[in-house]
Amino acid sequence: MAKLLEVKDLTVSFHTYAGEVQSVRGVSFDLEEGETLAIVGESGCGKTVTSKSIMRLIATPPGEIKEGSQILFEGKDILKMNDKELREIRGESISMIFQDPMTSLNPTMKIGNQIAESLIIHRGMNKKEALEEAVKMLKLVNIPNAEKRVNQYPHEFSGGMRQRAMIAIALACNPKILIADEPTTALDVTIQAQIMDLIRELQNKLGTAVMLITHDLGVVANVASKIQVMYAGKVIEKGTTDELFFNAKHPYTWALLKSVPRLDTGHKDELYSIKGTPPDLLKPPVGCPFASRCDYCMQICKEEMPELTKLSETHSVHCWLQHPLAPKVEAPIIGEVQK
Ligand SMILES: Nc1ncnc2c1ncn2[C@@H]1O[C@H](COP(=O)(O)OP(=O)(O)O)[C@@H](O)[C@H]1O
Ligand SMILES: [Mg+2]
Repeated sequence: MAKLLEVKDLTVSFHTYAGEVQSVRGVSFDLEEGETLAIVGESGCGKTVTSKSIMRLIATPPGEIKEGSQILFEGKDILKMNDKELREIRGESISMIFQDPMTSLNPTMKIGNQIAESLIIHRGMNKKEALEEAVKMLKLVNIPNAEKRVNQYPHEFSGGMRQRAMIAIALACNPKILIADEPTTALDVTIQAQIMDLIRELQNKLGTAVMLITHDLGVVANVASKIQVMYAGKVIEKGTTDELFFNAKHPYTWALLKSVPRLDTGHKDELYSIKGTPPDLLKPPVGCPFASRCDYCMQICKEEMPELTKLSETHSVHCWLQHPLAPKVEAPIIGEVQK
């Protein structure tokens, strides 16, 4: 499969009064045509800064995308594009949806017109054609009574419906990549599952590549083809969905897996939460950033960031436990995750 997007050594900081916040620290990954990549990690680990960098939505200053970072879309560096090229990329090639659709939808404009707008600009349709297409898009995202809904305003939609409408807007120009940043975080659990099903269904139907960003590993199992785990601005483990669910190697990934609510135990109210907090990105630790919270921490972990260990063509991890001289640690039994 062809590589659509290649992010290489992406490094992003924000200059604040308190100093330089090192939000993203050398992140690299690829996205191939039609695949779904999940980026998972606790709040504050650099997921949104990564996705906004791809869309060139980081304000500089206070942000700074460091020299040496590359974001290649079909081989061309987004970080070097001029305004005209960027407009094309944003309108036609890559679309993004955010956690709270209310902040991205225009409250004063009918939903249909909001979908039609981008069709008129980017696909050269006239108003009538664009509104007809808007009805089709609302049907595509399973909004009932699309003919009526197309003439309604965002406040007439429920939270889940608004997120569906956002997805319709994002997909209207048939982008090659959809970036969905915590698309279900603001929604209740049943609606979350419906939106995830919708993303998977559309991904199958339209072949759009999806970057799905979430703090909840539980929601991605049935949607993602591969997963990368971020921590303190770095990717600490990545692999296919099966590799990460059944053969994870990083204690942080284990902790995330343990935090997934499970349906099959009697202890569903006792949700596991990871002790401690992520490090301050104003002064990231020199060693492994997870060391201070890790149950398996060794002296070396506090002193040096572990190199990348490749476990398969697709699976890799940064952890000192992979060193040949490290004690053998068995992954804790995490049990049947909702896969
Ligand atoms: N505009 C900004 N100014 C200063 N710090 C920022 C800014 N945007 C993000 N950050 C910091 O960058 C880090 C990563 O943020 P973010 O990518 O939003 O995390 P996530 O999406 O994983 O929750 C956080 O420590 C956050 O406080
Ligand atoms: Mg975020």
